[in-house]
Amino acid sequence: MHNRTATADLESADDPPVIRARVNARLLGKADRLFTGTLEGRIIELLQNARRAGARNVEITNENGVVTVQDDGGGIDDFAQLLDLGGSGWEKEYEASEDPAGVGLFCLAPRDIRIRSKGRMVDITGAGWRGAPVLVQPDNGPAQGTIVQFEDEEWSHSIVGPLAVFSGMNVAVDDCPCPREAFVRKQAVHHPALGCRIEVREAEHLNSWHRQVRRSHAYGDNVLVNFHGQTTSFDFHPVSEQKLWFLVDLTGAPTGIRLMLPARTQLVENGAFEELKAALELEAYRCVQRRGHHRLPYQQYLRARELGVELPEATPTFQVGLLSTRESPEPVEVTMPKGFPLARCYRFDPDAVEEDTNETNTHLLAALGTFPKPFVPVSIRKEYDGYSWAELPVVRKVTLAVGKELHSAGLWSGTLTCVDTLALAVETSDGKVFSSPVCLAKAPPPEGKEGWCDDAVLVTWDAKDELVPSQIWYHLGGWSEDGDTYDTQLNDFEQELNRFWADLLGPDEQLRRGILAVVTEIRPEWQTVLVARNGTVTIRLPDGSEKVIRPPDLLKKKSPPK
Ligand SMILES: Nc1ncnc2c1ncn2[C@@H]1O[C@H](COP(=O)(O)OP(=O)(O)OP(=O)(O)O)[C@@H](O)[C@H]1O
Ligand SMILES: [Mg+2]
Repeated sequence: MHNRTATADLESADDPPVIRARVNARLLGKADRLFTGTLEGRIIELLQNARRAGARNVEITNENGVVTVQDDGGGIDDFAQLLDLGGSGWEKEYEASEDPAGVGLFCLAPRDIRIRSKGRMVDITGAGWRGAPVLVQPDNGPAQGTIVQFEDEEWSHSIVGPLAVFSGMNVAVDDCPCPREAFVRKQAVHHPALGCRIEVREAEHLNSWHRQVRRSHAYGDNVLVNFHGQTTSFDFHPVSEQKLWFLVDLTGAPTGIRLMLPARTQLVENGAFEELKAALELEAYRCVQRRGHHRLPYQQYLRARELGVELPEATPTFQVGLLSTRESPEPVEVTMPKGFPLARCYRFDPDAVEEDTNETNTHLLAALGTFPKPFVPVSIRKEYDGYSWAELPVVRKVTLAVGKELHSAGLWSGTLTCVDTLALAVETSDGKVFSSPVCLAKAPPPEGKEGWCDDAVLVTWDAKDELVPSQIWYHLGGWSEDGDTYDTQLNDFEQELNRFWADLLGPDEQLRRGILAVVTEIRPEWQTVLVARNGTVTIRLPDGSEKVIRPPDLLKKKSPPK
């Protein structure tokens, strides 16, 4: 290394020029902006200093806008360290475990502060923060510990509490003790190389302080890291199943885990961070192992084994039938007889496109057909391929037998066709055939028509009584978010469907129903009603008598008003 100044090097003609990093005093003038200036930030820094000084107790008092923080730590021997930006006076071991940066106290700049310790004190004011000499004076304060005083908004119990709870010290605000808790339980696993202990908890086992700490961090973060009271978080999901929470408690032993400066609210993504994630993954699998059951994808089951964690197979996870019971309307359901073993079910081809015609028809056959032995198709997500229970015979071929067309009409967002007979048959990979008449099926898309085409639905007359309208609606587009309310749309569909059934019975059936509805709704006891061309209505009543109702203009002719 050249022991010269940069200027000298530049001026030398023989040696190549060198430059060197140094701290410019101008930085002192901006030191107050190293911090975001939050109250929480100041509390964290002062509690941290007290803890590093070995304090067991910290008393915080608020009086007339002045905050006093008194600790019973080792006190200050070298006051110069206080204003040494970037320099620290802590014991050597803190260097490796906590990475002090020598900037913390500057979170109080440019306030006027008084620091008293071991019979001496300093008043640091405006220029003092920027490099002007600050007098160290004798003081008759307490012989032990340190007192820091400055003007600030109230350091209330409710704000200090969550920042003190995991600090490992007894902290009191205006004589009221803050809660103190262990961040992790005894069973947390020690990872000495990372200087931390790790505990995995399921969401419901987080205590209220963890929850409170969590709320102060980014939503969704599930790893909480406790740096002796100061917490930070990130999100990491090595196992996909459900939300696991990771609690990482720094022990104070040397660690490579570092907080990003100066705010110290985020971890530095260094090698130790990667090691921490690897440790978290391992602990996640161990947690699943302790629980004894899981629904992890097969790849994760293999990964656990690779890490030396033997897991049982995932709990069989499947859906009976295929059609999703998405919000609404609900399709006709496939039911699994009680106690029916999964091993006797058939699996929808995991590679098939979801809800294509064959899949739909397999579902409908199972839901509507009758068989000597139950036919229960199940859908199992592909990620479970590999588990023994997921290895089921699959549905291979689906055939549809359609009888004579009776009536067809555009309905809702597709076409509904009524036929005199309808049957479905499914061949399975174990050589079985399941076939049955059904009252509802999806027509395959017309030959050569690729991609999107209108839904074409087939029904037999039985569908009218065997199904509720919404079960047909499901296949004709169902409820649309862009339109009216669910009930209004369903009502519209039901009317369209009623018209369809009526038209099926004959061209005038709809008319007959309309007239009948009017007449029978008003007077169900009327025997016959004769409507003449001139508008006269003649009604025969149950006692055989007749009642004649003439239109108003005919009445007028009979007896004109006077
Ligand atoms: N409560 C205290 N008791 C004893 N010494 C203290 C206390 N507070 C601060 N000091 C001394 O003042 C120095 C500067 O503190 P400051 O908070 O600015 O930096 P730091 O704690 O070393 O590093 P960091 O940037 O991580 O906070 C400390 O290194 C320590 O020597
Ligand atoms: Mg500090």
